[in-house]
Formats: sequence, structure tokens, C-alpha cells
Amino acid sequence: MRIVRTKDYNDMSRKAANVISAQVILKPDSVLGLATGSTPIGTYKQLAEWNHKGDCDFSEVHTYNLDEYVGLSHDDPQSYHYFMRTNFFDHINIDINNTHVPDGANLNADEVCPAYDKMVADAGYPDLQLLGIGRNGHIGFNEPDDVFSKGTHCVNLTESTIKANSRLFEREEDVPRQAYSMGVQTIMYARMILICASGEDKAQAVHDMILGPVTPRCPASILQLHHHCIVIADEAALSLVPAE
Ligand code: F6R
Repeated sequence: MRIVRTKDYNDMSRKAANVISAQVILKPDSVLGLATGSTPIGTYKQLAEWNHKGDCDFSEVHTYNLDEYVGLSHDDPQSYHYFMRTNFFDHINIDINNTHVPDGANLNADEVCPAYDKMVADAGYPDLQLLGIGRNGHIGFNEPDDVFSKGTHCVNLTESTIKANSRLFEREEDVPRQAYSMGVQTIMYARMILICASGEDKAQAVHDMILGPVTPRCPASILQLHHHCIVIADEAALSLVPAE
């Protein structure tokens, strides 16, 4: 794992945007795996700025998001479809038909999951997969478990994730209890992984991801086995990882 230590969230966002921008400049028809959540918002904002300046062209890029809540329509302001449009896709020159998010509006997991896996496989898997990390070490919605997941699947969210995500909902009861998530195996097929983290509340998870045993109890720890994984995290998130 290559670790890049940044001053703060803004520095993390800018450095992550630089890596993504370099990928798109070097391969204009890149396939990007994308994440939602608080972590990538600054990165998406920076990329949109560079896109406006003409420095980063998304016209040939294809994207595949990691996850989506089950039971929310694509226009629901809490859905990840909506998040991606308002935080990124509406602000760059991407063809919206080239963007993909698991179909949370379809409650039939047997239909949604294999179809999403096939789409990602047919696209040749991401050139670059952007990830955030949960406080319990989850990636996508792959929660701590006894085994690593493989393909896209329907997940029952843990209490800690429901609690963490309730900050974005009016009431905790409104947080969906299930999500569709790309599996860990699919994430590992990406040719490059860029995982970002900011803030002290991620410090334990970041420590376990980098220095702990490789175990499905901390799903992000599997990234230690990826041949090209970059961690861009701020001082607070890396506070339990000694600087080299
Ligand atoms: C979201 C996702 C999640 C988040 C994680 C961290 O698409 O894949 O694994 O990356 O929950 O969320 P934030 O960035 O809100 O702390």
C-alpha cells in the first residue's frame, strides 16, 4: 500500500482529485468505480472545477458506483443516484448514460445483483476504484463478517452503519435497512484502488486496514493484498499509523 499523508480534508480531496485526473488524462475512456458519502465530496468538487477549466474531460469516461440503498427511487434525495447527480455528474461533461448505480428502486435482488455484476464485468472492471472507509472498516456496504463477499449482493446494514448514516436523514427510522453493494472480490478486480479517509473517527479503521491482520472482520484490510492501492488520508485519520 502506498500511503499519502495530508494536512487536512481539503488537502486530501485535492490530492485524490489529482490521482483521478491523471488517470482520466492518461486514459480518456477510463472506467471509474465511484463512492458516495462525505469523504469524496471535496474530490468531486475539485474535479468539477478542473472540468470547467477544460483540464479534465469526462466525455468518454464510464462510471460504476459501489452501492445504493434498497427501496429508494432514483429521485429520492437520500438515494445514491441523487447524490451522484447533485455532487458530481450534473457538474461535469459526462454522458449520464455512461454512469451506473445499482438499481435500488428494484426490490428484486436476484434481478439487480447479477445484472450489475455483468455490467461491471462487460466494462472490463474499473481502471480506478475510489473508496471511502466506514468506522468499522467497511468498504462499499461490505460490513464486518466471517467471510469476504464476492459479487454484488443485498446487505443488511449494521446498527453502527445505520447510526453513522442517520446524520443524513431526518430520523434514524428513515435510514433504509438494506443496500445493494458491489462485493469485495469485484472491488479487488480494479486495476488501481484509491481509498481516502479524513478525521479522527476513522483512525482505528485506517490503522486496522493498514497494519492489522487481513480479515473479513475489517473488510478494508484485504486492500493490503492489492497490487496497486493508494491510501490518501489526513493526519487525524492516520494518527494511529506511525509515520515512516
Ligand atoms: C459509500 C460507501 C461507503 C462509504 C463509507 C464512509 O458509497 O461505499 O463505504 O465510503 O461509509 O462514508 P463517509 O465518507 O460518509 O465517512
